[in-house]
Amino acid sequence: MEKKELRSHGWFGRTGKDGFIYRAWMKNQGIPDEEFRGKPVIGICNTWSEFTPCNAHFRELAESVKKGVIAAGGFPLEFPVMSLGETLIKPTAMLFRNLASMDTEESIRANPMDGVVLLCGCDKTTPSLLMGACSVDLPTIVVSGGAMLTGKYRGKSIGTSDVWRFNDAVRSGEMSQEELTVAEACMCRSQGHCAVMGTASTMACMVESLGLSLPENAAIPAADSRRKVLAQYSGQRIVEMVKENIKLSDVLTREAFENAIMVNAAIGGSTNFVLHLMAIAGRIGVPLSIEDFDTLSQNIPLLANLQPSGEYFMEDFYYAGGLPAVMKELHDRLRQSHLTVSGKQIKENYSDAECYNDDVIRGLNDPFKTESGLAIVKGNLCEHGAVIKLSAASAHLLKHKGKAVVFENIEDYHARIDDPELPVDENSILVLKNVGPIGYPGMPEVGNMALPKKLLDQGVKDLIRISDGRMSGTGFGTVVLHVSPEAACGGTLALVKDGDWIELDVASRLLQLHVDDQELAIRKKQWKPSHLLVKRGYVKLYQEHVQQSHLGADLDFLNGSSGSAVTRDSH
Ligand code: FES
Repeated sequence: MEKKELRSHGWFGRTGKDGFIYRAWMKNQGIPDEEFRGKPVIGICNTWSEFTPCNAHFRELAESVKKGVIAAGGFPLEFPVMSLGETLIKPTAMLFRNLASMDTEESIRANPMDGVVLLCGCDKTTPSLLMGACSVDLPTIVVSGGAMLTGKYRGKSIGTSDVWRFNDAVRSGEMSQEELTVAEACMCRSQGHCAVMGTASTMACMVESLGLSLPENAAIPAADSRRKVLAQYSGQRIVEMVKENIKLSDVLTREAFENAIMVNAAIGGSTNFVLHLMAIAGRIGVPLSIEDFDTLSQNIPLLANLQPSGEYFMEDFYYAGGLPAVMKELHDRLRQSHLTVSGKQIKENYSDAECYNDDVIRGLNDPFKTESGLAIVKGNLCEHGAVIKLSAASAHLLKHKGKAVVFENIEDYHARIDDPELPVDENSILVLKNVGPIGYPGMPEVGNMALPKKLLDQGVKDLIRISDGRMSGTGFGTVVLHVSPEAACGGTLALVKDGDWIELDVASRLLQLHVDDQELAIRKKQWKPSHLLVKRGYVKLYQEHVQQSHLGADLDFLNGSSGSAVTRDSH
């Protein structure tokens, strides 16, 4: 292989005043001179924050990465980027995914790095770091933080999906507030991210199936010492990747994206997967359409029996063989030869895998559910598409016609959902407007609206719910999300009225509002946007430039890459 000059040499390899400036200030950290003499500089991009509890153990994880980098002859330097904690950030972490990606991109490009290790965990920290890194395209490896240990409450295993169940139980009087408070501490009892196949675990699986991490990255629990071993090996590997010049664009081929979609179907991954994978594809320049998620998911059954679609937790998933065991089972369906960060083809990463619990990871001839994956429905209500997670939906509602009960925004929903006079029954379809990328702004996870109390009291467990918002990866129900175009753009969703008939027919991939075109044209003329328009700062930029959800909700000017070259040199 031709020896390539290190990118960091443009800083640390200089003589005279420039070299003095680049090295002298670094030496205030007690770094000896030999570190600057041609060792690959590895940036460790850390989303540690005590406001992001899922990533609060990342300082320790970074130390393990550093050990690996040093052992392989590299020079590790850790740097922070904006951290997005799903539980605390308001109004919603998704609003800032693109901002954090800009921080990541510019931090990588602006500094003397030859390779990057991305430390990510909580939902948005993975796509934001990857999107940013793709727009620079250096050798890059991902280390995920790992999931929490399974929660234990009064003898039962619990995880984030139980939050929704507990909420319904408290509202229907089956659970007291005191019991709910006890359950809080029982659920989050170790470091790590949500312990179910929510968005964080989906993202960790996405990374591994794309070939961007070492094998087993997706499922090793955060508290398991083997997570640190993986981090150390990843530190070692990134130094070799720099020498081999394996960049993100060498790994992220169309085949890698196709594999990620098929694997996501087999594990029952989150609906947020669509938005994030589309945005990543847009950055690295791989053609991907929302229809690909439907086409590639077809005939892939649900193999992983994991909450929220199934019974078990991420800890069980790891002990059962983790993602390599799923990928081995899918072997005949997968693209097998794309390069991964391990330096091997993807098939070599899982060829030795074994399944140790076939109730957690089922076989193709005995799947957990035959319906899996994400279906993309279209019709006059969602011209550019909407997403429904089949494994989390109720079979009897997948073909259904019902009357709309409409909420103009999330405040309207909260004000009226438990009104005893609300004209809703078990055949109704709940419609929520103005929670899309522009409308909210930021597309919050409110699409799996809690059911009206009066229906819960009657024992109703599910209704069709339609919105332009998102749903937590830990959520479940017959929930149609990401309606595009969103209500704030004047899409048909904006025109729906109480009592309109809506038809969902998932087998035909149809979502249709049964109102004739003439009436819709009249409503369209009368329609006025009602969403909040922010006048300054990042949110103004976001509202002016965010793309619709079928394109991944990235900012339009962030598509593509600017490469790793530094264009001006002021010294
Ligand atoms: Fe961080 Fe669920 S809140 S992964």
